[in-house]
Amino acid sequence: MPQPTPQHNDRHWQGRRVWITGGTSGIGWALADALARRGARLALTARSADAIAAAVAGLPGSGHLALPADIADPAALDRALALLRESWGGLDLAILNAGTYVPMRGDAIDLPAAHRLVDVNLKGTISAAAAAIALFLAAGRGHLAVVASVAGYVGLPKALVYGATKAALINFTEALHIDLAGRGIKVQLVCPGFVATPLTDGNDFRMPALLTAEDAAARIVAGLTSRRFEIHFPKRFTLGLKLMRLLPYPVAFRLIHRATGL
Ligand SMILES: NC(=O)c1ccc[n+]([C@@H]2O[C@H](COP(=O)([O-])OP(=O)(O)OC[C@H]3O[C@@H](n4cnc5c(N)ncnc54)[C@H](OP(=O)(O)O)[C@@H]3O)[C@@H](O)[C@H]2O)c1
Repeated sequence: MPQPTPQHNDRHWQGRRVWITGGTSGIGWALADALARRGARLALTARSADAIAAAVAGLPGSGHLALPADIADPAALDRALALLRESWGGLDLAILNAGTYVPMRGDAIDLPAAHRLVDVNLKGTISAAAAAIALFLAAGRGHLAVVASVAGYVGLPKALVYGATKAALINFTEALHIDLAGRGIKVQLVCPGFVATPLTDGNDFRMPALLTAEDAAARIVAGLTSRRFEIHFPKRFTLGLKLMRLLPYPVAFRLIHRATGL
């Protein structure tokens, strides 16, 4: 499918009300900046109120909103959404991007960290999706994009629980797409490969096909105006991991051991 021209893209985004969770850093911040440059209004959610204030002040355009909340805290999320409804009356697009990563392997499971990964990446994203979907159903239209990861395609070393939360998000988003397609709500899944952000800064291994956050955001923005369900990139990395899912387990496990040295 031909990609929309930048001009078409700008018309599409002019005045759109976009909520981004995790919008103060990395991919979320690059997305907020890219969309604000195209004329969208942004509502940013993260835990740090100071970081949100700085991010909102740094965005081009006007009418942006600061919605501080820990997405794992349902009461805080309710307060943020009440402020969004009061300020904007509704929402055109929710990008559920907030997430956290803690490297973990099977011989050293850190239970508090594991439970926190599930609370933020999975339960927090489900809570944020429910809040956005309520607004979309009331309006009879909307657009939801869930940021999972290629780590959800297949079990990988050092992604013991992180990968499990992302696999669950992929499944959740597929089911949402099926349930909401007939209700005027567009649902998309975003699966990035490695992106250089504070989340991956601490990785002690070579990250193949590493992208900048700006490059990742440009690919996501292009995908959001397409009809594709899944926005995954870079293809030279994601297609290889998709292939792993089709291989017999012994072959896939051997290839993963060999590729990672783990
Ligand atoms: N970087 C990669 O290689 C990569 C690859 C695939 C998928 N992803 C996914 O992409 C998303 C963004 O990752 P990133 O690399 O851009 O990470 P990042 O730079 O660490 O940014 C994470 C953002 O989420 C916010 N956040 C974290 N925990 C939160 C919570 N409990 N409630 C609300 N906000 C929270 C952070 O702000 P506060 O700390 O102030 O809350 C920050 O704005 C994540 O879902 C990640 O899993 C990343």
